[in-house]
Formats: sequence, structure tokens, C-alpha cells
Amino acid sequence: MADFIATANPGFAPFAMEELRRSFSGIGQSGLAPGETFKVSTGAMSAREWVELLKKKEPIFLRHVFPVDEEVPMSDSQEETAAALVRFASANADRLEGTTVAVQVRKSQDSVFPFSSAEGRDAVAPTLRELGAEVVARDSKWILSVYAAKRSLYMGLSHPEDNLSDWPGGAVRFRREEGLISRAAFKLLEAEKAFKLPLQGFMNALDLGAAPGGWTSVLLERGVKVTAVDPAEMDESLLLHPHLRHLRKNAAEVKFAPGTFDLLVCDMSWDPHHTCRIVSELAPALSAGASGIITLKLMYRKPMQTIQDLLQEYKKHFEIRQVKQLFHNREEVTIWVKRRP
Ligand SMILES: C[S@@+](CC[C@H](N)C(=O)[O-])C[C@H]1O[C@@H](n2cnc3c(N)ncnc32)[C@H](O)[C@@H]1O
Repeated sequence: MADFIATANPGFAPFAMEELRRSFSGIGQSGLAPGETFKVSTGAMSAREWVELLKKKEPIFLRHVFPVDEEVPMSDSQEETAAALVRFASANADRLEGTTVAVQVRKSQDSVFPFSSAEGRDAVAPTLRELGAEVVARDSKWILSVYAAKRSLYMGLSHPEDNLSDWPGGAVRFRREEGLISRAAFKLLEAEKAFKLPLQGFMNALDLGAAPGGWTSVLLERGVKVTAVDPAEMDESLLLHPHLRHLRKNAAEVKFAPGTFDLLVCDMSWDPHHTCRIVSELAPALSAGASGIITLKLMYRKPMQTIQDLLQEYKKHFEIRQVKQLFHNREEVTIWVKRRP
């Protein structure tokens, strides 16, 4: 049996827990930060077995996990807390020597943890260096995760690929670049990483619900030609781009020759069933094997049921590759589909 700290987007932990309950009989789950962070006990499964199964079929609403290698009672004393962190690092000396490690510290709102995230990291970093590890922010071999809850301090050491995300709690941060057209662009950037789907590999994209043009600008930057469909205006910085064609129309009214596009992206602010109908009608405009990245708005009370119903519909024209609630998704999830040959 092993314990893990698991995180979902705010308000979506109950759905992540439901998914885990359905996939793994015999696990135990208890909330730590309401709606967001919870503890999973894997029952008869070892930590390794559980992580491997989890990675094979990632739950939609689970953003991040890390193994609990040590749990100590929560203290508001800086001295005691620093000592606990140092003890944990020292106990893992053999794994850390000569490697790189990132320290990720988070706490729940009701925790008396006496440090900020940066202070927590600074409390253990000198010890890690003494042990021969290089302390880095990203692309590390190991992640030392710390989660401070109300009653306990949880610590674990794991490889980034076993945490589902290498960001603290799965909170992906992109640099806010100059001239960013909309925050929505982050959704596509995150989808590209999460689905391991390099956008520069595509030639011709159809962007439905494209305005003001965050997704379109990401695609253009990657060298993809874009047909953007939206009755609303696109950002003026894009208007003269030689690889952009903007159709100021409702997506339900456009038609294209068969096989025109090898990528469809859709971030329409509309009922997900309408969106599904429009995307399905445009499926012939995609070449066989073309990819689709689509946000599904969760506007109904039963998100799991909504997703299941929509996937049945999408399956008529597409193969479902992955469904994930990304960090940048609010009341929605993102799906990656492929056009059936
Ligand atoms: C969330 S915004 C899209 C943001 C965009 N992905 C970006 O990165 O800037 C949703 C857009 O969907 C468009 N939209 C809603 N219903 C539509 C429809 N039936 N056809 C085309 N566009 C639609 C809206 O006009 C709005 O601009």
C-alpha cells in the first residue's frame, strides 16, 4: 500500500476522485484542500503499479500526483519544519547524489506551515547541495515535493514523469509574452504539451471560434496556415498576416472541399452539443488522420455524463485520443481527436 497526494482544478477534485474510484477498486481517498487536493491510498497496489496504471489511462480531472514517502505532524515552528525537510532529504542521500532536483512546496489555506513556497525550498536546498545534488527549477531528474496540509506535512521524491505534470501541483505557467493576444492561447500551448502534439507538424488549420486570435497566433507562429472562422473581429495585429484567412461567419455556415485541413482547433463559446454537431459536419473537410483539438464547455450539472455523451457523438467521425482538463481550462475540458480514415 502507498499514499499519494493528488490535485485537480479548483472545484473538480470530486470528479477526479470519482474517476479514480471507478478505475481502481480498493483504494481509499480523503480530502485535504476542499475541491482541489486529496490523499489517495492505493490499497493492495504498490506505488509503482498504481503510477504505471495511472499513466496508461490518465484520468480526465487529475492534474498531478506525488508519492508520500514520509508524513509528519504539521508544526508552525520554522525550526521543526526545516528539520523535518532536512531529515527527509538526508534519508534519500543515495538517490540524490550527483543528480538534479527541483523542490516544489505547496500548502493548503488552513495549514500553519511557517514558510512560503520559496522559503520552504530555501530551507532544504543547502542540504541537497551538501548531498551532491544540483538544485534546479525545471527539467530535473527528481522532484522533491512538499505538501503542507492542516494536520500533516507530506514529503515525497519522484521522477517528474511519474507526477503526471512536472509543474508544482500541475499548475503550468507560460511566460506572458509581449503582444499575447488572449490568455486563451495558453490553452493551446498547454494542449500541445499535454498531448505531445507539436503544432509545427501541421500545414493547414481550421480554427473555429477563433477571435480575437490567441490560438490562431500560436498556429501562425508555428508556420501553420490558418483559416479562422468567427463572426467577431480578429486582433488587428493578425489581419495582414499572409498565412491567415478570416471568414467572418458562423461556423455552422461554412463549407470546404474534402480533405482541406490536417488540423481543426475549436474553442467556441457555445453549447458543447452544438459545437459537436458543427465539428462533425465539418469532419469531411479534414484529411484522414487529421487531428482536432476541441474545448468542451461543461455547462451542465453532470460533467462526467456530458463528457460521456459527447464522446459517443464524436466517435462517429473521430477516434478519441485523449480527454484532459488542462490547468488553463476553467469550466471545460480539452479533447484531442483524430479523423477516421
Ligand atoms: C473563447 S472565444 C475564443 C478565443 C480564441 N480561441 C482565442 O484564442 O483568442 C470564443 C469565440 O467563439 C466565437 N463563437 C461562438 N459561437 C460561434 C459560432 N457559432 N461560429 C463561430 N464562432 C463562434 C465567439 O465569437 C468568440 O469569439
